Amino acid sequence: MCGIVGYVGRASATGTNVAGDHQALDVLLEGLRRLEYRGYDSAGVAIVADGAIEFRKKSGKLANLVAEIEARPLPDSLTGIGHTRWATHGGPTDANAHPHLADDGRLAVIHNGIIENFATLKAELASKGHTFLSDTDTEVAAVLLGDIYRAIVEADAGTEAQPLSKAMQLASRRLEGAFTLLATHADQPGVVVAARRNSPLVVGLGEHENFLGSDVSGFIDYTRRALELDQDQIVTITPETVEVTDFHGAPAEGREYTVDWDAAAAEKGGYPSFMEKEINDQPEAVAQTLLGRSDSRGRLTLDELRIDPELLKSVNKIIVLACGTSAYAGQVAKYAIEHWCRIPTEVELSHEFRYRDPIVDEQTLIVSISQSGETMDTLMAVRYAREQGAKTVSICNTNGSTIPRESDAVLYTHAGPEIAVASTKAFLAQITAAYLLGLYLAQLRGNLFQGQIKDILADLAKTPAKIARILENSGQIKELARAMADTRSVLFLGRHVGYPVAMEGALKLKELAYIHAEGFAAGELKHGPIALIEEGQPVFVVVPSPRGRDSLHAKVVSNIQEVRARGANTIVIAEEGDDSVAAYAEHVFYIPETSVLLAPLLTTVPLQLFACELATAKGYDVDQPRNLAKSVTVE
Ligand code: M6R
Repeated sequence: MCGIVGYVGRASATGTNVAGDHQALDVLLEGLRRLEYRGYDSAGVAIVADGAIEFRKKSGKLANLVAEIEARPLPDSLTGIGHTRWATHGGPTDANAHPHLADDGRLAVIHNGIIENFATLKAELASKGHTFLSDTDTEVAAVLLGDIYRAIVEADAGTEAQPLSKAMQLASRRLEGAFTLLATHADQPGVVVAARRNSPLVVGLGEHENFLGSDVSGFIDYTRRALELDQDQIVTITPETVEVTDFHGAPAEGREYTVDWDAAAAEKGGYPSFMEKEINDQPEAVAQTLLGRSDSRGRLTLDELRIDPELLKSVNKIIVLACGTSAYAGQVAKYAIEHWCRIPTEVELSHEFRYRDPIVDEQTLIVSISQSGETMDTLMAVRYAREQGAKTVSICNTNGSTIPRESDAVLYTHAGPEIAVASTKAFLAQITAAYLLGLYLAQLRGNLFQGQIKDILADLAKTPAKIARILENSGQIKELARAMADTRSVLFLGRHVGYPVAMEGALKLKELAYIHAEGFAAGELKHGPIALIEEGQPVFVVVPSPRGRDSLHAKVVSNIQEVRARGANTIVIAEEGDDSVAAYAEHVFYIPETSVLLAPLLTTVPLQLFACELATAKGYDVDQPRNLAKSVTVE
C-alpha cells in the first residue's frame, strides 16, 4: 500500500550534484516507477528549491504525474520526496494525492499507512484555526507536524539543530495506527526526515547522497547498500549523514545489509509485462530457493533457521499464517508437512487468526508465509502468536522486511523481486521453501529415513526443468485463453494438493481478468456448487497423477464426468501419459510426471499462463490490476 521515496544529494561548488548527475526529481520518478506496484491511485512529488517547496500531484497512474511535470516543469533540486498511492482515507482525487502541505506551504509530507486517531487530531487542529484541503488522514499528520515544527522554531529561536527531526519525534508520539511519514521543509534543504511505525521503510546508503524507500527497489538504481530500521524510529537523512533515533530522540542503530539483486532483476527483461517475466522466471525461482540447502548426502542444512533443534523436535502443532496466494502455498505445504512429519498442521488466514482465541503455546510452531514480508495482517498475527509463547519461522521473499525481522527465524525464498501485483513466482518459491522446512523437521525428528529425504530432494531438483518444459509448450493454453476472452465465469476443481491449486487458479483469473472464478474441492461440488454448472460452463480440473494413490485419481476422473454430464466445458490439467482423462475433456494440458506432493509446482503454471493471457487479450494491465496493491500494509 503506497510507495514512498525520499532523496538528498550534495551540491558541489558549481551547483551540480557531487554524487553524480542525479537530480532529486529524476531519482524520485525512477523510484516511484519501481514502487508503483505498491499502489497506483495517484502519485506526487515535492522538492525543495530556492527556499520553497515545489510540488506536483495527480490522480491516476504515475504516467499522469509525469505528463503534469512535462506540462509544468519543476526546477532543479537535490532534496525531495515522492509518493504513489493506494487510497484509504479519501478517494483517488488530485486533492487527496500526496504530498500534503502544511506550515504555510513550507512543509511537505507523504504517508503510507492509516492514522487511526486522525478525527480527534483534526478536530483539535481545526479548533486552533487550521484548515484542510483533502479528506485524508495524511493531511492531518502534515498539519500536526507543521504546527509542532512552528512551535519549536518560534520557541527556541533557531538553537534546535534539527527542528524537523524534533517535530517528527513529537508528532509521531501523538499518532496512533500505522505510518511511514516522510517530510521535507523549505527551511531545511538537504534534509528529509522519516518516521516509521508498523509500516515499511528502508534507508539507501550512497556516497554524498542518501535515500529512503518503502523497499529497496525505490533506490536500487543508485545503491545496493541498505539500512533496516526498527519500529517506532525516526531517521534523518542528509547527503553525508543518516541519524536514527527513537520517538524520544534516543540514538538508535539500523542494521546494514547489501541487496542481493540489482536493478536489471527488477526490469521486464524483454517480456511485455512483469507478470510474463515472472511466470517465466519460475524455474530459476525454484532452483534458487533449493540452492545450498542440502549437502551431497541429501541432508538438509538449514543452518540459517537458528532455532534450537531440540525445540523444533518438541513441536506438537504447526500453524501456517498467510493471506491470499501465500495462504494457498501454505495449504499446499500442509499436505506435505503432515505426511512427512506427522505434526498436525493448520493453515489460517492471518486476519482471522487473532480474533478466534487460537490455542497457541510454547510447543506451537508458527510458520508465516509472505512474499513482501510486510503484510500487516500476517505481521499482527505473528506478533500475537509470539506473545502467546509460540516460536515463529517466516518464509519470506524480501530481505530486511518486517515479518522476518520480528520472527525467531527466517527461511528466505530466493525468487528475486516480484513486481507484478499478482503473485506467481513467489508462490512456487514459497511451496518449495515450505517443503524444505517440512523435510528438515522430518529429518530432525526422524520421521523419514535419510534415503527418503534424499529422493524427495532429488525430485525437487528436477522440478525447474519440468516447469521450463511447461513454459516452452505454453502455446496451446494461451490459444485457449485468447479464445475464451469473453467468458464470464470459470470454475476450478482439485482434490488434495490440487484443491489449493484450483483456488490459486481462480484467484489469478479474478485478479488479472476480473472474471468471476471459484476454486472448489472436487468432492465438495456435489454438496451444492454443482448447481452452477450449465451448458458450456468452463471448468478447469486439476487431475492428480495416476501413479499416485489410485483412489485419488479415480475420484477426480469421476468428478470430471459429473460436471461434463451436466454440460460443462471441461479443461483438464493432467500428467503426461494419463490417457484416462482425454475421453471426458474438451481440452487437456499435460504436465511432466512428478510425485503427487510436488505436482502443485507444475499444475499451477498452466493456470497462471491462462489467466495472464486471457487478461492480456481483454486489454487489461496484468501488472497493475485495478483496486489492488502489492504489499498490503493496512489491516
Ligand atoms: O506479500 P504477501 O505474500 O504477504 O501477500 C499476501 C497477499 O496479499 C498476496 O498473495 C495477494 O493475494 C496477491 N494479490 C496474490 O496474487
